[in-house]
Amino acid sequence: MICRHMLARQIAGSLILLFPAAALAVEAGDAGRGERTCRRCYSCHSVDPNETAKLQGPSLYRIMGRPAAAIPSFEYSDAMRARGAAGLVWDATTLEDYNIADPEGVVTGTSMSAPPLRDAHERADLIAYLALSGRYRP
Ligand code: HEC
Repeated sequence: MICRHMLARQIAGSLILLFPAAALAVEAGDAGRGERTCRRCYSCHSVDPNETAKLQGPSLYRIMGRPAAAIPSFEYSDAMRARGAAGLVWDATTLEDYNIADPEGVVTGTSMSAPPLRDAHERADLIAYLALSGRYRP
């Protein structure tokens, strides 16, 4: 017969076995390397809160937690405005999909035409770098 105590010990044991695997799966990016990767975005974007240059793309300052198409002075495509109105918010997952892996696949009809970043490490690094400016504050 298995008593509750033994069962608890068994569960704790399997958690210890599972945990290192989970820690490996969630790989944190390196913001320093991400700064270099972000040079691929700088032709069209900045991360400068006081950006005055008229760039092709909107500022990526505090992009984490920012709804899509939230910069009032920027002329977004209708596609991006529609996705913002429908609730698309930029976070590690949506950034990973949109910017870096497949812009057209996530926002069909977007005016951003950037080559996808195919390397998963580079994508993680870039997201870590973009997160440095903090979260969006309306
Ligand atoms: C050739 C120019 C160009 C390059 C290179 C580029 N983007 Fe963009 N990006 C744009 C444009 C233009 C938009 C606006 C898209 C729209 O309105 O559909 C945009 C939109 C975005 C948005 C949505 C912002 C918002 O306010 O909703 C994010 C996030 C973004 N880009 C991230 C990136 C990242 C990260 C890179 C580098 C890997 C990158 N972009 C490279 C032109 C570019």
